Amino acid sequence: MTEKPKIFLTRELPPETMSLLHDQCELTMNREDRVLEKSEIIAGIQGVDGLLCLLTDTIDADIMDANPDLKVIANFAVGFNNIDVAAATERKLPVTNTPGVLTETTADMAWALLMDAARRVSEGDRLVRTKSWNGWGPLQLLGADVSGGTLGLVGMGRIARAMAKRAIGFDMRILYWNRTRLETADERIMGAEFVELDELLTLSDFLSLHVALTPETKHLIGATELAKMKSTAILVNTARGPVVDEQALVAALQTGTIAGAGLDVYEHEPALAPELYELENVVVAPHLGSATIGTRTKMGNMAANNCLSACRGTRPANLVNPEIYV
Ligand code: DGY
Repeated sequence: MTEKPKIFLTRELPPETMSLLHDQCELTMNREDRVLEKSEIIAGIQGVDGLLCLLTDTIDADIMDANPDLKVIANFAVGFNNIDVAAATERKLPVTNTPGVLTETTADMAWALLMDAARRVSEGDRLVRTKSWNGWGPLQLLGADVSGGTLGLVGMGRIARAMAKRAIGFDMRILYWNRTRLETADERIMGAEFVELDELLTLSDFLSLHVALTPETKHLIGATELAKMKSTAILVNTARGPVVDEQALVAALQTGTIAGAGLDVYEHEPALAPELYELENVVVAPHLGSATIGTRTKMGNMAANNCLSACRGTRPANLVNPEIYV
């Protein structure tokens, strides 16, 4: 019988994934419901073949060098900005992610935030719960119409496309900006028009961010960009916090440069700019984009299978640095 691969897992995953891992590998793991310190990850990966980690774990070259026999870093997320991929590639170490399985779920969340911010649902919830609601009023908590509005998509990957699909049902004009423009036929299918970023900022009623965090996209939306937006506009971020300059966003929300925001991610997660706890015109969610039982299970199984494949010496399905196999 061939030996089972040894895997270190940084935090418990959904039950189906845990069964898969217990069945297929020799598993060691963090059993506490908290993010591990770097030193604990280093201790955890001693003598193992694979590291199965989360977007909350920063995986740098020191960690990679702490176990030169490590065969893979498998991330339980589609985003992989928490991993120094260049360092991994230099060490011929495969890095994997979980694309595709969380697309619809994350688009649903972006829509939930958009609708909440537009129709002031959370503000209304606070009004009711604090027993401050004295009954219906013609001018009470008036929001913005979503139907017939203009949706601006920053980025046009899988999640942005899922956003566009939903916007068709709301009779919206769909604009997008992306590094590379889609084929005309593709744009027609999506019902989306390409515009430059500046135009997207000025024309959108709802601006939703769908770009990966890279050095180029850090603070892509800052004071200058926010100033170009409509004063009635709503910004939605389910991508990564540092894509937005959070302090500039706070100022824009305080001064009415834009009307509101729906945020699932933050620049210094889990900390928020203190003002965001107080502002009424922002909906704040705790990074719930992919948080459904079904999706987290699919992500877990995908990450586990990526990890197992690489540990067994086969090419994992969802490589982010495929060049190491060339
Ligand atoms: C991801 O997978 O990158 C998401 O942010 C998880 O919710």
